[in-house]
Amino acid sequence: MTATAGNFDQWLQDAVARVGGVLDDVLPPLEDDGPARLHEAMRYAVLGPGKRIRAALVLAAGEASCTPGVAAAAQDLALDGAAAAVELIHAYSLIHDDLPCMDDDDLRRGRPTVHRQFDDEALAMLAGDALQPLAFDCLVQMPIAPALIVQAVQLLARAAGSDGMVGGQAIDCASVGHALSIESLQRMHRMKTGALLEASVLLGGVVAGASSTVRTGLESYAAAMGLAFQVVDDILDVTADSATLGKTAGKDAAQGKPTYVSILGLDASRELLLNLREQAHQALLPLGPSACRLRELADYIIGRTH
Ligand code: IPE
Ligand code: IPE
Ligand code: MG
Ligand code: MG
Ligand code: MG
Repeated sequence: MTATAGNFDQWLQDAVARVGGVLDDVLPPLEDDGPARLHEAMRYAVLGPGKRIRAALVLAAGEASCTPGVAAAAQDLALDGAAAAVELIHAYSLIHDDLPCMDDDDLRRGRPTVHRQFDDEALAMLAGDALQPLAFDCLVQMPIAPALIVQAVQLLARAAGSDGMVGGQAIDCASVGHALSIESLQRMHRMKTGALLEASVLLGGVVAGASSTVRTGLESYAAAMGLAFQVVDDILDVTADSATLGKTAGKDAAQGKPTYVSILGLDASRELLLNLREQAHQALLPLGPSACRLRELADYIIGRTH
């Protein structure tokens, strides 16, 4: 995906359709003689109507980084693999996040959560487990230099692990009922949500062979957007309804979760978002027009209503 012509809505719609097709291909089929219910649960979780923001970040960062004319077809296939990988890790994190032992949610992407739909918590846990190695398999199959694959695998492994997403989820679980300092809250958000969003941006850069100037811009952009994403999620939990969100609104307060809204209040949280958007835009300036989709994605992420 190298063209930057056309409007953002169409670009995003194309990106969502593109990654949806890749995910459909890489997920195990229902009709083979494997563990059919497990495969059904994996497909249900991943192919539901997610926004695919992490995949879009991979593709947009790829557009901002690619060297024109250099093995464009292989680069596009590699970006497909990286985009699918981050969505698989994300989908697994949502299945586990919704389990009764974590947030105990019934609704996700406008449908019953996996453990509810299949009335089977063990199956939901295993479906999440199985999505993780599948994500790394997608990276390993990217048609790019082995050294770049190693970098990509390390990036995703670190973002998803105990110093990233899973570590953040552990802090989240341990923080219920506690008033965290703003520094601790920020650390938790950067880990549980920011790490995978950052990795999505950086993966697009790695796969597309970003120069060191571009990588520096991507890192600063990604840091701002990673935090901004969870601040928006915290705000929407308070201001939106369940039908719009496709997940249960008001869960954070009901469960005593420390959030940006509970600690800073709505106005200061919104103010912080404007600062993070400015930081993201500034970071992209040295990248020029090829970063237009990243710029538009920043505005989309901050302005989203679900
Ligand atoms: C929800 O992520 C979970 C968080 C990390 C806040 P998204 O809002 O990206 O969920 P989907 O993929 O669109 O369902
Ligand atoms: C989820 O945060 C973060 C991860 C799944 C890693 P939340 O618990 O706030 O996400 P939602 O609101 O259930 O989507
Ligand atoms: Mg949670
Ligand atoms: Mg949750
Ligand atoms: Mg939330």
